[in-house]
Amino acid sequence: MLLKVPDVLTPDELQQARHLLATAPWTDGRASAGSQAALVKNNAQLPHACDAARALRPMVLAALDRQLAFFSACLPKRVLAPQFNRYGGGSNHYGNHVDSAIRYQPDNGQKVRTDLSCTLFLSEPQSYDGGELVIQDTPEPQRFKLPAGHLLLYPADRVHQVTPVTRGERLACFFWVESMVRSGAQRQLLFDMDTALLQLRAEHGENAATVALTGTYHNLLRMWADT
Ligand code: NI
Repeated sequence: MLLKVPDVLTPDELQQARHLLATAPWTDGRASAGSQAALVKNNAQLPHACDAARALRPMVLAALDRQLAFFSACLPKRVLAPQFNRYGGGSNHYGNHVDSAIRYQPDNGQKVRTDLSCTLFLSEPQSYDGGELVIQDTPEPQRFKLPAGHLLLYPADRVHQVTPVTRGERLACFFWVESMVRSGAQRQLLFDMDTALLQLRAEHGENAATVALTGTYHNLLRMWADT
């Protein structure tokens, strides 16, 4: 599933993030790429242990907790520690690549299977040229350049790229989610059902049918979830 989640960060949080990132100790993004990805990667990333990354990670994780659609779509089991990147100047693109299937939590080495990829845009789209996230899809690739504070959620098994930033700079937060439900098709069914149930409740209130369908939702989750 490809899902846009709007307004994950508030304007105040965005301002704080950009303030911290303006003076952060950026390093070469190739250090964290797999061998295929390193050949096409040319951006800057924040070291995990720097002050800015330490301050911003909890802000992003708390913001995600406020997003019911994010939870419903991901059914997260583990969220890999959010990271931060910058595209601009001489380090301005990331060619077509796939993300590694297994990554490790920096603090404790715990393995995380990357089922879903997330990009949280931190720069306003009009402040830079290029820098589109392009995700291979059928029949055509899909291109994304979302407003600051909005998040894109997409399947981690897709070939994708960030096109060259030719003016300004593109700041983003990115991370991966391991879902309790491994199958993307099953996750999509659960998300569709949950979304429709929310709509039914909003229009008609709780009734015997919504209670029964909620039970079916949880029974499917019980059948498919690995906690
Ligand atoms: Ni990637």
